[in-house]
Amino acid sequence: MSRITLSQFLIQQQRDGERISAELRFLVEVVARAVKAIGNAVGKGGLTNSLGEAGGENVQGEVQKKLDVIANEILLEANEWGGHLAAMASEEMDAPHQIPNRYPKGEYLLLFDPLDGSSNIDVNISTGTIFSVLRCPDFANGGAAPVDESAFLQPGTRQLVAGYAVYGSATQLVLTLGEGVHAFTLDRETGSFVMTTAHMRIPDDTKEYAINASNARSWEAPVKRYIDELIAGKTGPRGKDYNMRWVGSMVADVHRILTRGGIFLYPKDTKDPTKPGKLRLMYEANPMAMLIEQAGGSATTGYQRILDVQPEKLHQRVPVILGSKNEVERVLGYHSA
Ligand code: AHG
Ligand code: MN
Ligand code: MN
Repeated sequence: MSRITLSQFLIQQQRDGERISAELRFLVEVVARAVKAIGNAVGKGGLTNSLGEAGGENVQGEVQKKLDVIANEILLEANEWGGHLAAMASEEMDAPHQIPNRYPKGEYLLLFDPLDGSSNIDVNISTGTIFSVLRCPDFANGGAAPVDESAFLQPGTRQLVAGYAVYGSATQLVLTLGEGVHAFTLDRETGSFVMTTAHMRIPDDTKEYAINASNARSWEAPVKRYIDELIAGKTGPRGKDYNMRWVGSMVADVHRILTRGGIFLYPKDTKDPTKPGKLRLMYEANPMAMLIEQAGGSATTGYQRILDVQPEKLHQRVPVILGSKNEVERVLGYHSA
């Protein structure tokens, strides 16, 4: 059986399924082209002097790596000129990025974390790119006016497309158009993304969890109780042993869960009361939550479904608990108990 490429899949979705417009298909193709370029840059490792810090901080006060800046520029440049976007937003930019006047505009908004897990980049561990697509409200004016932050503040349920690329031993693109989750692997010889898994499914049960345990002393009681029970394993109330895996690149941790199940937690902690979690809602939690739900898993803050959170700020943070349904529901139950 011959495998289909990403381009063939998208054409099928546009033609037969009518799942996507021609513009949306083009958008995904452009993002795929950009992540290939980012994968190349990441894959050069120390050969090109692109490892290490850029010497600045992003809007969240985090140190920017050179490759954070390079990945951001690749995505901006690739997506500016095609006429499919009204504006873009990125982890690495304070305010929305406007489409230059010399180019036509389209009705979609693209949000991204250009390089996720970039603290792992200097040690040759998997990183990734996360992206989300929304429709720009009030695009009726033809996109003449600049697009401000408020246009982006839509709950995750409104996402039209969500996905990530993972730069690991292979470069993969994992995607949902709202009808299942499909994984494509970059064939480095032909330069094409080829579908390697259709309809990824997350098992309802698991024996694997992922959490940064160094934050344990600041977790809230429900998370503490849940993790304590997993650690107790066979000797505790769960009656079975659990294994722990933590890459520290959300893309890689979520990719493992989509591949073989598991639960991932970056919960709220009490270290800094101004930060309700570490991960960002609009370009980390929302796209991952859509993918997880589309693959049969669940994604919650502990208090509410992530996709239902009404965003208030472009760069807002949110607690994230996602993965195999029965485990996520148990954690949710401990929060409401
Ligand atoms: P980014 O590199 O885009 O800033 O995101 C890093 C995130 C995420 O990938 C990961 O799960 C988490 O930060 C790890 O953070 P800590 O090492 O601080 O726990
Ligand atoms: Mn990130
Ligand atoms: Mn990042």
